[in-house]
Amino acid sequence: DRGAIKNSTLFTMAEKLNIGSHDLPVSAALNEFMKQGWADTEERDLAPLPVVAYTRKRWQRLSALFPNKRLVIPAGTFKVRANDTDFRFRAHSAFAWLTGIPGAEVVPDTVLVFEPEGNGHTAYLYLHPRSPRNTEEFFRDRRHGELWVGRRPSAAEAHAKYGMQIRHINDLAKDLKDDVETILVRGEDHKIDPLVPENDDEWRLLQMLAELRLIKDEFEINEMRKAVDATVRGFEDVVRALPLAMKEERGERIVEGAFYTRARVEGNDVGYDTIAASGAHACILHWMRNDGAVRDGDLLLLDAGVEVESLYTADVTRTLPVNGQFSEAQRKVYQLVLDAQKAALATIKPGAKFRDFHRASQIVIANALAEWGILPVTAAESLDPECGLHRRWTLCSTGHMLGIDVHDCAKARADQYLDGILEVGHVLTVEPGLYFQADDELIPSELRGIGVRIEDDIVVTENGYELLTANLPREIDEIESWMTRLLAE
Ligand code: GLY
Ligand code: MN
Ligand code: MN
Repeated sequence: DRGAIKNSTLFTMAEKLNIGSHDLPVSAALNEFMKQGWADTEERDLAPLPVVAYTRKRWQRLSALFPNKRLVIPAGTFKVRANDTDFRFRAHSAFAWLTGIPGAEVVPDTVLVFEPEGNGHTAYLYLHPRSPRNTEEFFRDRRHGELWVGRRPSAAEAHAKYGMQIRHINDLAKDLKDDVETILVRGEDHKIDPLVPENDDEWRLLQMLAELRLIKDEFEINEMRKAVDATVRGFEDVVRALPLAMKEERGERIVEGAFYTRARVEGNDVGYDTIAASGAHACILHWMRNDGAVRDGDLLLLDAGVEVESLYTADVTRTLPVNGQFSEAQRKVYQLVLDAQKAALATIKPGAKFRDFHRASQIVIANALAEWGILPVTAAESLDPECGLHRRWTLCSTGHMLGIDVHDCAKARADQYLDGILEVGHVLTVEPGLYFQADDELIPSELRGIGVRIEDDIVVTENGYELLTANLPREIDEIESWMTRLLAE
């Protein structure tokens, strides 16, 4: 309640001052009236979520790395947008991976604690259970009140669904006051950070939480399939929206909005801000302003992914002719990027180096740029890492791990990721690109302002890889006929 928040040391001054500044006072009579007349809505026959069978195995792997240490992994807290208005909450990715709680269900301020017990750990979920109707919270607390933000699970419901021991979040500060060595995922919840002394292993905990997520289990790969399939439908929606996009001054916003609708209808959100880059905007790698026109004759580079309820996201790029037909110059650049992508994909198998697929795509691109007379040195010279001049036009690396985060497992050590080898169950993007800036005088004028990226999502298998995005056309003639069909609907 408000008094408790004002007196609490766990809230920042900004939060104390921002509480309900324009809310009207509540009379004692209303307060009493609000406590009465509510039915019992407790759900009593809940089964554990299917993910619980998998999260238990994830806990065991984490537990074995930190014997006798307590691990504290906050879901995170509210991020203020302004005054008493917050951004939409998204749980910390390691929390999501360890609990499996669907994104929209995670109550902000929840904390997962692995308590060392016996030979391993027991997982406790400290949460803010649904407020009983005999307090003011349910109708007055705009962050946790059910009449403001919707129903939350009771402790018994959470126990049944999530397969964890449940404790009240108000007990956490007391429970952390002992001598058990405790390692915190720091920086996610400013109320928890001061409760746990700094520990030299904090960075190692983050590294391990990234590395444990490198190889996806069956449940995760299935979630990736769902994310990719919804994303494919989002790309189809965008093609259908192109005639409208061409009519609007800021047609890129029509593209962004069409994809976003699909992401919200089928998933939790977009997994990252959509890149809707038409014309020369395609040469800006992360063009997210999306305030440009979508013109007949231009290419549209669309880099977008649906994040499903479990928070796994796709990361897909297609570069599409706005009017459905590639021009000669567009075709030439597109085909080169496609050839580079095929060369990259051909290297992917268990045991290959992570860097191999990038190298394979760069060989194709450097050779073509030399052949086209654009590269001022030979392809071989350019491919020497000490030289790398072709990178003026490719700019970024050819792919990354993908999962709950679009750039997944980023805190993994280099020998496990960048300098590591591919293993069965790795999920990654393969996304070569060529970006010929509009003001690049080293490029033939007909190629200036053309940017192409082709980005697909794959899972490494025993025999090579599975193309998760196989249902989204990539070949030039396939794209043209796919667009013709969608535009005729
Ligand atoms: N969408 C960001 C990336 O492709 O890495
Ligand atoms: Mn990517
Ligand atoms: Mn992308």
